[in-house]
Formats: sequence, C-alpha cells, structure tokens
Amino acid sequence: MTARLIDGKAIAAAKRLTMKTRVSRLKSEGVVPGLAVVLVGANPASMSYVKGKIRDCKEVGIYSELIRLPESVPEKELLEKINVLNVRDEIHGILVQLPLPDQISEQKVIQAINPDKDVDGFHPVNLGKMMTNQECFVPCTPAGIIEMLKAVNISIAGKHAVIVGRSHIVGKPASQLFLNYNATVTICHSKTTPLSDYTRQADILVVAVGRAGLIGAEDVKTGAVVIDVGMNRNGKGKLVGDVVFKETSEKAGFITPVPGGVGPMTRVMLLENTLKAAERKVRDRHDDGK
Ligand code: GUN
Repeated sequence: MTARLIDGKAIAAAKRLTMKTRVSRLKSEGVVPGLAVVLVGANPASMSYVKGKIRDCKEVGIYSELIRLPESVPEKELLEKINVLNVRDEIHGILVQLPLPDQISEQKVIQAINPDKDVDGFHPVNLGKMMTNQECFVPCTPAGIIEMLKAVNISIAGKHAVIVGRSHIVGKPASQLFLNYNATVTICHSKTTPLSDYTRQADILVVAVGRAGLIGAEDVKTGAVVIDVGMNRNGKGKLVGDVVFKETSEKAGFITPVPGGVGPMTRVMLLENTLKAAERKVRDRHDDGK
C-alpha cells in the first residue's frame, strides 16, 4: 500500500476526548446536553446505528433518550412526538433515524423538527443556510469528511472534488460543503457515463453510492484522496465500502478504510452538532442576561 490511511476511528476518538471538556463546561453552567433519538420499527441496520449513537453519547456525558415507535405508527403520532421534543428544554438535539416506513413522509417529519434542534442538518432551513454559507447544522457525514481531511492537513481550496452519489444525506450536502470550502465540484450519479472519465479527474474523490466494488484503481488518479462512504455487506457478511480497497490504496495518495473511516466520523459529528445546539442555548441565555 502506498496511500496514507485516514484513520477515522482514531480521529473520532480524539475528538470525543476533547468533547468531554466541553460537556463539563456546559454542566458547570447547569446545562446537560441532551439528544433524543427516534427509531421507528426494528430495521436491524437502523437499530445498530442507533445503539452506537446512544453509546457515543454516554461516553462523552451527553444525556440521550431513545424513543421507539412501532413500524405501524401513524404519521400524525410521530409528528406529535416531535412537537413534544421540540419544546422540551432538556432536549437540545432531535434525530429521527431514516429510513421511515412507507406511511410516513420523511420530508414532513424532517420539516416538523425545530431547525435549532436539527442535529442531522436535514431541515430545509439548515440546508438553505448551508447553501448561502451561513452558520448552521451541517449533515454529519459531509461534516465528518471535512473534519478528517482537516485532521490530516489536506487542503480543499482549489482542488477538484468529485462526488459520486446525490443522496440528500451525503452526496448533495457534501457537494455544497466542498463548494463552501472553495473546491471545484463535480457531482456524478447513476446516469453519469462513463463514470470513470469523471472520477479519474478527482483530486478528492468521495464515493457515496452503496455499491461494493464500484470504484477500483483504474478509476482514480495517482495520488488522489479517496473517501469511501459506502457500507455494504459482501458475500461473506463482511462490511466493505464502495471502493476496492487493496488495489486502490496502491494508487491513491490517501484513502479511508471501511470500517473505521467515514462511519466513526459521522457518529462523532452528531455529538458535535448536539454540543453546538446546547452551547448555542447557553450563549443565547447569556445574551438575554439570564
Ligand atoms: N440513516 C442513515 N444515515 C442517517 C443519518 O445520518 N441520519 C438519520 N437520521 N438517519 C440516517
């Protein structure tokens, strides 16, 4: 392997350590940061993600509350739960785990969350602010990618960032965020042909499609930074990314592993956003002279 490994697991662990100090500071101001996680149904992947998020909160001292609702829950009932969380003082962040069952509109649910508690950064208010480069909650995976690049001193301004995937959770917000950091951005998707004509031009390649083996050594430029957001199970049940790791790591300059790359960074950015929400509240209280 010639590429340098970007160790998301280690970067996230270091970040969690510094967060403990921020939690202590908040607690000395009488505020325990709090996150509510809403899980509808029992999708095994969602359950595993949610468990990890709750565990992370515990590690840094953030209060967390898991609200579980049955798969058959009517949309109205979920919206009512969100309304209650929106006005509870001890809850600073609200996350509704996606995907949701068919009877529930994801957009309605996202838009029901108070934008000041939208630690996923999915609310149109936060997305609009990101588009106009204002202070806002940034979606956790794109934010985590930027943090990992910063941690290994990779500059973004002037680089050609190619994003493969245009999901609301990763691809689209990542494209906007890279643009905010002054990259030249290309967005590729399922209709882009031939994909490798674009990916081979990337200084920074972000692959967020969810298809194992989509990108190999022949699809990247020598020395490129390759960020693999994919989380797929291979035939043996092993977790693999969208990038063929071994051959690509022999050509890239930097590469993220799966597991241990983007995943831990996504999780830690949720803690970051929750702390930000709680710190904002303390700041607003000081500004009000209370
Ligand atoms: N499902 C997969 N990723 C995410 C995420 O980042 N946030 C939420 N709420 N659901 C998800």
